[in-house]
Amino acid sequence: MINNPDEQDAASCREMLEVIEHFQRIAILVVGDVMLDRYWWGSVTRISPEAPVPVVRHERSTLAAGGAANVAANIAGLSGRPLLVGLIGDDEGGRELPLTLNAIGVETGHLISTSERPTTVKTRVVAHGQHVVRVDNEDTSPISQEQAQQVTEHVLSLLPESNVLVISDYAKGLLDSALLQSVIAEARRLGIPVLIDPKGMDYKRYAGATLITPNRLEAAQACGIDATDQRAVETSGHRLLDELEIQSCLITQGEEGMTLFRRDHAPVHLPAMARDVYDVTGAGDTVIAALSLSVGAGADLLTAARLANLSAGLAVEQVGTTVLGLELLREHLESLASTFRLEEQASKQAEHLG
Ligand SMILES: Nc1ncnc2c1ncn2[C@@H]1O[C@H](COP(=O)(O)OP(=O)(O)OP(=O)(O)O)[C@@H](O)[C@H]1O
Ligand SMILES: [Mg+2]
Repeated sequence: MINNPDEQDAASCREMLEVIEHFQRIAILVVGDVMLDRYWWGSVTRISPEAPVPVVRHERSTLAAGGAANVAANIAGLSGRPLLVGLIGDDEGGRELPLTLNAIGVETGHLISTSERPTTVKTRVVAHGQHVVRVDNEDTSPISQEQAQQVTEHVLSLLPESNVLVISDYAKGLLDSALLQSVIAEARRLGIPVLIDPKGMDYKRYAGATLITPNRLEAAQACGIDATDQRAVETSGHRLLDELEIQSCLITQGEEGMTLFRRDHAPVHLPAMARDVYDVTGAGDTVIAALSLSVGAGADLLTAARLANLSAGLAVEQVGTTVLGLELLREHLESLASTFRLEEQASKQAEHLG
């Protein structure tokens, strides 16, 4: 166990409450692999006579933003302003994803439509609340040089109006090394923080980033470590900082919270806060959304990580949506602040009496 657990108090809650009041005017440029999550809900009445599989009678469909599009959705949920750059195909998914995003207040004018590849769509069949099968439609080969150039130029043109650059890498072929290096270099030149949710084995592509947010498995794999326990988290955190030109690293650990590694501080562990976990999918997207808004609002990395940890904890408790609203975060922070205040008063009184 990393023996430096985070200590929070009424003052740190007040600081977080101040930070979230600025979310509204923060523009986050989100670049990455956008996806559409499609759900087919139904019920099983019998086993197919054709093969030993259930027959699902389709009752309704729902759509949700996935991948980088879910990061943008989470930023909008927290009342920030996402500028979303990604590729969609000239197909049904490419029409549905913008509509899905617009319905939750995410502008889609910067999505680039291409005939070179399909929209990444994950279709899940769910019967009686049970996930029966998932069908993926995607082409994960690297995008063409011309396409990469077009995306790069688009990102460069949006950087000057952005407070933070977020790269949401789901390894679907968009983010090649040259594209990453040109947008990271330009963001740095402009003094814009770069936060990256990484994938894959080659983290050198992310050189120059302010912060990367792998989960513990991703961090261990990137370091060639064959374990995911606390010691592996600590080793990979230190190794990523030693071997990469990145300023900091936040390793998320599901129900065990997250650990922040910075160059000039000892690692700090933030325990998870969710009480009743309902749905953990997309928690990583909530983490980077809350982090980016906090950093954009001027918070230091520890305060930003605290806000991200609280936000993800609240998001996994939610039924029916993975997007957290600002009001819920504010309410939670206020009640946390008053709990700490009461505890602090009680311990002062005890001291006084003793
Ligand atoms: N079961 C859980 N209980 C409490 N908090 C959780 C749980 N799962 C996730 N979280 C919160 O969400 C954060 C991110 O979760 P996790 O480490 O699973 O990210 P991830 O693997 O990138 O997720 P995904 O890829 O599904 O979006 C955790 O650091 C924690 O704050
Ligand atoms: Mg993740």
